[in-house]
Amino acid sequence: MAGKTYRIAVFPGDGIGPEIVAQAVKVFSVVTERTGINFTLEEGLVGGAAYDACGDPLPAASLEMALNADAVLLGAVGGPKWEALDYSVRPERALLGLREKLGLFANLRPVTVFDDLIEASPLKNHIVRGIDIMIVRELTGGVYFGKPRGVKTEKGMRVGINTLVYSEEEIERIARVAFEIARQRRGNLVSVDKANVLETTQLWRDVLTEVSGDYRDVSLKHMYVDNCAMQLIRDPAQFDVIVTTNLFGDILSDEASMLTGSIGMLPSASRGRCAAMYEPIHGSAPDIAGRNIANPVATILSVAMMLQYSFGLKEEARRVEEAVETVLRSGFRTRDIFQEGMLLVGTEEMGEEVVKRISA
Ligand code: IPM
Ligand code: MG
Repeated sequence: MAGKTYRIAVFPGDGIGPEIVAQAVKVFSVVTERTGINFTLEEGLVGGAAYDACGDPLPAASLEMALNADAVLLGAVGGPKWEALDYSVRPERALLGLREKLGLFANLRPVTVFDDLIEASPLKNHIVRGIDIMIVRELTGGVYFGKPRGVKTEKGMRVGINTLVYSEEEIERIARVAFEIARQRRGNLVSVDKANVLETTQLWRDVLTEVSGDYRDVSLKHMYVDNCAMQLIRDPAQFDVIVTTNLFGDILSDEASMLTGSIGMLPSASRGRCAAMYEPIHGSAPDIAGRNIANPVATILSVAMMLQYSFGLKEEARRVEEAVETVLRSGFRTRDIFQEGMLLVGTEEMGEEVVKRISA
């Protein structure tokens, strides 16, 4: 492995994106020092930043860079500055375009609670302690991509349309990802749908049940999305792996992040046909951008996921996660997870503290 070189496309994006990515990429130099594996980082423009520079949120050069990379690291995109733009050139198109063009149909969003942050959770300690959930979100289908879509005028009245479409093939491939993951964890999979109202998700339920025949060692349970939203707050410990549609996964993963006290702590990995993409699940937080107060941990942990899933560097990934744990244990906190008696630090210092401990 030493001497090997991996190409990483780095897309800082908008808002706090550049600040948090600047901290996360420091991890690569430490891994190189420790393993002799080289990482070539190529930086590209996406999102509002790209729109401002060339009128396109996902310029061909950036897409090309992603297609040629071994892995992609993305910060965040979007902001009020671009909200009035047409959908076709909104910063979010960059993210959706990358997901689509790289075929990233499986989005993995782990939700774990650090013991030292248990007080930061708005829920009672005994409810969130020790939770360890993996949300598997379908990422290239459903209502996000379904056609027809748009707003048109019919008989003088505006009508908005979006379409929830899933083929059995799309459902089956995400189901298999989820079953494989569940098999390597605690063997318990909850599939989330709205089969009591939406036919598409009845198909989702049927296909999940069919695929479960190949995974007798995994227990499959179906749950309606409204009930799941409630159960995540009532008793999150009941969940091991959750698999769900694009839109439900978007919503449930934001909800689940709050169990951990801050959305600033959660990484994600999106896998598919080409290089995988790694990004924090939080957004670009334009209100705090450029002030050195954002939490870089979710992005740093996204790099840990990259080391493990794209490059098989399990030990290095574990070191990054342990470094985060140690930093939290030592009392360092960014503003979003701050509590009385702790040490308030900025984005850069938080990054430095973590990186220092990976090499130690
Ligand atoms: C996410 C985000 C994106 C999504 C937005 C920015 C398009 O909320 O990754 O969860 O809805 O997928
Ligand atoms: Mg979201």
